Amino acid sequence: MGKTGIFYGSTTGTTEEIANLIAQKLGISPDDVHDVRDFTREMIDQYDYLILGTSTWGDGEMQEDWLEPVEVLSQMNLTGKTIAFFGSGDSQGNSFSFCSGMGELYKKLKNTGATFVGCVPHDGYNFNHSEAIEDDRFVGLPLDEVNEGKPVTEKRVEEWTKTLNFNPRSQKLD
Ligand SMILES: Cc1cc2nc3c(=O)[nH]c(=O)nc-3n(C[C@H](O)[C@H](O)[C@H](O)COP(=O)(O)O)c2cc1C
Repeated sequence: MGKTGIFYGSTTGTTEEIANLIAQKLGISPDDVHDVRDFTREMIDQYDYLILGTSTWGDGEMQEDWLEPVEVLSQMNLTGKTIAFFGSGDSQGNSFSFCSGMGELYKKLKNTGATFVGCVPHDGYNFNHSEAIEDDRFVGLPLDEVNEGKPVTEKRVEEWTKTLNFNPRSQKLD
């Protein structure tokens, strides 16, 4: 089993908390949970599996700390690496761009050669539109602490991390 790194962009701390929760569920060391503000290309080289998280701001944009790192990542050859996404958003206040930032991240990285896992059916979410939907599924795990609260987040994370065994049984996005 290779090494997993979590990178998150978070403005008010919600996505950061979720990143730590995912790490806890997967037994990932806090040393491997990174604020994307600290991103360097060399950090990516040490990981086989990447879990990338962003909240959504503006009108469907990824969290701003991702803007430069994602450009660097998108120019890298990530063949052999496996990537899963998670996002936090507001499905009621921003019902037409729910967790769209997660979709922006995916779109920037989809041609890097990486394998993408951890997509999620949209049943059980109440929203109108999301740029994070591809082939009728979310490209990663959307979370809505604004409306659903922490217990639901915990349950969604618990279920998602169980599917994230980074083997071929995980749902592939290609
Ligand atoms: C000005 C503003 C714009 C937002 N835009 C969106 C949006 O377009 N889509 C969405 O799903 N959530 C949106 N949100 C909700 C945030 O993404 C949500 O509160 C998130 O949990 C914040 O996470 P963070 O603290 O990790 O940045 C917005 C919130 C604010 C205050």
